[in-house]
Amino acid sequence: KKKIAVMTSGGDSPGMNAVVRSVVRMAIYMGCDAFCVYEGYQGLVTGDIRKTEWNDVRGYLSEGGTLIGTARCMEFYERPGRRLAAKNMILNGIDALAICGGDGSLTGADKFRSEWPSLVDELVSMGELKEEQVAPYRHLNIVGLVGSIDNDLSGTDNTIGAASALSRICEMVDYIEATASSHQRAFVIEVMGRHCGYLALMAGVATGADFIFIPEKPRGDNWQQDMTKIVKKHRDLGKRKTIVIIAEGAKDINGNKISSQMVVDLLKDPNGLKLDTRATILGHVQRGGPAVAEDRILATLQGVEAVKTLLEATPESETCFIAITENKIVRKPLMAAVEATQQVAKAIEAQDFTKAMALRDTEFAE
Ligand code: F6P
Repeated sequence: KKKIAVMTSGGDSPGMNAVVRSVVRMAIYMGCDAFCVYEGYQGLVTGDIRKTEWNDVRGYLSEGGTLIGTARCMEFYERPGRRLAAKNMILNGIDALAICGGDGSLTGADKFRSEWPSLVDELVSMGELKEEQVAPYRHLNIVGLVGSIDNDLSGTDNTIGAASALSRICEMVDYIEATASSHQRAFVIEVMGRHCGYLALMAGVATGADFIFIPEKPRGDNWQQDMTKIVKKHRDLGKRKTIVIIAEGAKDINGNKISSQMVVDLLKDPNGLKLDTRATILGHVQRGGPAVAEDRILATLQGVEAVKTLLEATPESETCFIAITENKIVRKPLMAAVEATQQVAKAIEAQDFTKAMALRDTEFAE
């Protein structure tokens, strides 16, 4: 029987459990044995790989975080760690792995796959495994599923967890608005997203924020005056509250970080707006809690496609990840997407925003 393993890696995101459930059940449905690797790459290195049955993943759809754990694994960065990982997989009879994580985790997976034949050779020459043990597992097949609240990977319209985080942010802003309105206060709300402004931008649209700061549109030298003017205009129109949403990666046009505190100070300025202002850094509430329906569905459909991809993969096929493009679940080359994502970061650094946006929207051949 073919054996397929699933693993979650990097920061947790809502919907990862739905991925695990989907991969496990689809693998079993297709006549394979399913395994879960616990604690991300750490579990590959330590051999924490457990056979998983249909009923073991019951209830996974509605749970937040990742029930099979995730970890930062320094050993996997080194070749001996990856060799150990290969050995543990072969001992379990596994040469097909679905990994749900961000671009860093998926890049690690691609490297592992390309090194696999030489790692296996080493295991034999070192006497760790016998030729007949490794013979059926000369090639590793891998598929990526993008689990991240940041929605920062090129080549896919959405990542698993972003919809839940966005929904949580909006809920939190709604709560904050009650106090803001009651006291006529201003609130500066900092949201996650690393180098990506997706969460801040969409939350701004969904909550009707007065002003937003995102890395992709760094504010010019006059941002203080620009914001003051807009906030004042809204207040003059009778608005009792002010909501400013700032992405954690926000910068000005010179590449300097714009912090929540800087925005708070500006709103409070005794010679300016004089607003009673508070800052709320939403932090990890954005990543926690159950996944919204959209993420559960995305994770489930992509899990099914991931298993099909593994079953159809050949040693020659390119490593794929599962994307969603114009509402269709599709396979795309993993490294092309990772490279485009890195180029986006570079283009933003170089302030070439047109290029950055084009790269983020890049379409890759299926
Ligand atoms: O990538 C997901 C994310 O939540 C980012 O939005 C944030 O910058 C980062 O992870 C926080 O990482 P940690 O949980 O390790 O502090």
